[in-house]
Amino acid sequence: MTIVLDGKSLALKIRQELKQKVEEQAVKPGLVVLLVGEDPASQIYVRNKERAANEVGFHSVVERLPETTTQEELLEKIKTLNEDDAIHGILVQLPLPKQIDSQTVLEAIIPEKDVDGFHPVNLGKLLQKDESIVPCTPKGIIRLLEEYKIDLTGKEMVVIGQSTIVGRPMALLGLNRGATVTVCHSRTKDLEKQIARADIIISAVGKPNLVLREHVKKGAVIVDVGINRLESGKIVGDVDFDGVKDQVSAITPVPGGVGPMTIAMLLEQTYLNACKRENIYE
Ligand code: GUN
Repeated sequence: MTIVLDGKSLALKIRQELKQKVEEQAVKPGLVVLLVGEDPASQIYVRNKERAANEVGFHSVVERLPETTTQEELLEKIKTLNEDDAIHGILVQLPLPKQIDSQTVLEAIIPEKDVDGFHPVNLGKLLQKDESIVPCTPKGIIRLLEEYKIDLTGKEMVVIGQSTIVGRPMALLGLNRGATVTVCHSRTKDLEKQIARADIIISAVGKPNLVLREHVKKGAVIVDVGINRLESGKIVGDVDFDGVKDQVSAITPVPGGVGPMTIAMLLEQTYLNACKRENIYE
C-alpha cells in the first residue's frame, strides 16, 4: 500500500501545538512579511502566511510596498525592523522587482531574525551541519519524512532542482542525515537514469509530468515540491501522481503535501527565534 504523506494534517498539528505554546509562554512572537509589488503568486503566498501567523496568536504584520520601491527604501525598512524588539522574524517575499538586488536585501536582515534561512550566515551554518535556522521548505520536507519514519541513512536521494530556496539546502539536510545525495538540474545529461536509481526523489522544478511511472524505481519515496497550474485551472506538481502512485511506497500530494509544511516551519522558526531572544528554552 502506498502511503500518502499528508502534509496538511501534520502542518495543522504543528500549528495547534504552536498556538498552545504561544498561549502558555510569556512571549508573543512577531513576524513581518514584506511584499514589494504585485506578483500574483506572491500575493497568495503572503496572504496564507499572514492568516497562519494570526491563527497561532503571533503579532503578524504584512507591509505591502509599491512596485516602484527603491532598494534604499527597502533597506531602511529592514534596518528599522532589525531594531524592533516586538519583531522576531523578517521575511522578504521573493521575487523582488528588477531595481532591487535580492541578495543585498536578504543580507541586510540580521541572521537572528532571518526566518527564511536565506542569510549567508545561516546557509553557511547549514553547510557546517548547524541547522539552527534553515530554509522552510526543505525543513518541512525533513519533518514530514520523520513523521512517517522514513529514514535517510544510506539512501540514494536524488534532488531535482538546485535553487537556494529548496534544492541546495535540501541536499545538505539529506547529507547531514547520511543520504547519498545527487543534485540534478537543467544541464544534467540523463535525468531519467538518475531518477531510476533513487530511493528518495525530491522534485522542485515547476514542470508537470517531469517524473513518470516508467522512470521510478519500485518502492521509492517521492516528495513533490512543484506547484503548477494547468490550463484547466487544476494545480499539479512535477510528478504524475496517478501514474506513479502504485509504483512507489510513499508520495506527497499536490496540493496538501509540502506547501502547508513550509508555512508551519516558518511559524515554528519565528517562535524559536522569539524564544531565543527572550531566553526561553525550548
Ligand atoms: N518565494 C517563493 N518561495 C519563497 C519562500 O520560501 N520565501 C520567500 N521569502 N519568498 C519565496
